Amino acid sequence: MGHPRVDAIVQQAREAVAAAQSSAELERVRVGVLGRQGELTQLLRSLGTLPPEERPLVGAAANEAKRELEALLDARLGATLETERQHERARQRLDLTLPGRRPPRGSLHPLTRVHDEIVAIFAGLGFSVAEGPEIETDYYNFEALNIPRDHPARDMQDTLYLTESTLLRTHTSPVQIRAMLAQKPPVRIIVPGKVYRRDVADATHSPMFHQVEGLAVDRGITMADLKGTLALFAREMFGPRSQIRFRPSFFPFTEPSAEADVLCFVCHGDGCRLCKQGGWLEILGSGMVHPQVLRNVGYDPEEVTGWAFGMGIERIAMLKYGIDDLRLFFENDLRFLGQFA
Ligand code: FA5
Ligand code: MG
Repeated sequence: MGHPRVDAIVQQAREAVAAAQSSAELERVRVGVLGRQGELTQLLRSLGTLPPEERPLVGAAANEAKRELEALLDARLGATLETERQHERARQRLDLTLPGRRPPRGSLHPLTRVHDEIVAIFAGLGFSVAEGPEIETDYYNFEALNIPRDHPARDMQDTLYLTESTLLRTHTSPVQIRAMLAQKPPVRIIVPGKVYRRDVADATHSPMFHQVEGLAVDRGITMADLKGTLALFAREMFGPRSQIRFRPSFFPFTEPSAEADVLCFVCHGDGCRLCKQGGWLEILGSGMVHPQVLRNVGYDPEEVTGWAFGMGIERIAMLKYGIDDLRLFFENDLRFLGQFA
């Protein structure tokens, strides 16, 4: 059949189709033969330049070849596209046996852990947990605690006032007053919570920090009970070999008053930057509840006595975990927090 020029084009196209590896290559073959500049298209377009007797022969052969090549290309392209789709599906197939990606696991904040541990230790001693407001009145935060307006003792706690008579509580001690007003002795409570002061942030101070107040009021309570309770607390919290010392101090709402220090974990008493060369780190203030405070809540100081303390949770967490800068607790760097998981 055909015509030698047409046969040569067809022969070449068949070989190219057979050699093609992809739908893209087949498409190139199609354009090369059947496209607007394709060999067969150009041959058909140039029929007019042939001798008249050859035109029908070449024309018929070229049209025949065009149909044949179109059919061949369509068939090959269909098969190739199907194979390519299968490969693509295989490439994208989910491997259900792969282990899943674990979502990152959270952990309790170190201050939360220490808070929980303090609560657990005192719960074991029969104390219950009380709470009070962070926005407090001047009366509960100061007056009822024997700190009158214009008394120099107010300088001990640099206060953030909201109005003349309301403020952000500077300590958890106002909850002593609220709790005693709400019940008759005996009282055994601890009060964890946030407190606020106009303190400049440094390695051991933050303008917002956490305290736990402790209060025990009953007949015959003595300072020995306070010391014994706090010594036991220190052993439970810091281990049997930890050292705690009591140092005379002053608070208007306790008499006598003492502050408790724990041996510095950095220098073990030699003195360093963290403990400001003292060798010890203060963790709490405490003392025997002042008779005037008992009277302020309607208790009779001739009948009952009591002790109270207020400890800083950040300071305790620093000592427990050997952290030399309290600001780390508030920066929320996951590399730091993740170490307590
Ligand atoms: C008081 O706040 C008294 N209310 C404690 C008290 C309670 C005494 C009951 C007597 C009876 P002081 O201001 O010292 O005391 O603070 C108590 C503890 O809070 C300190 O020992 C320290 O551990 C912690 N603390 C104080 N200021 C800061 C601060 N800016 N940042 C972190 N912790 C602090
Ligand atoms: Mg103090």
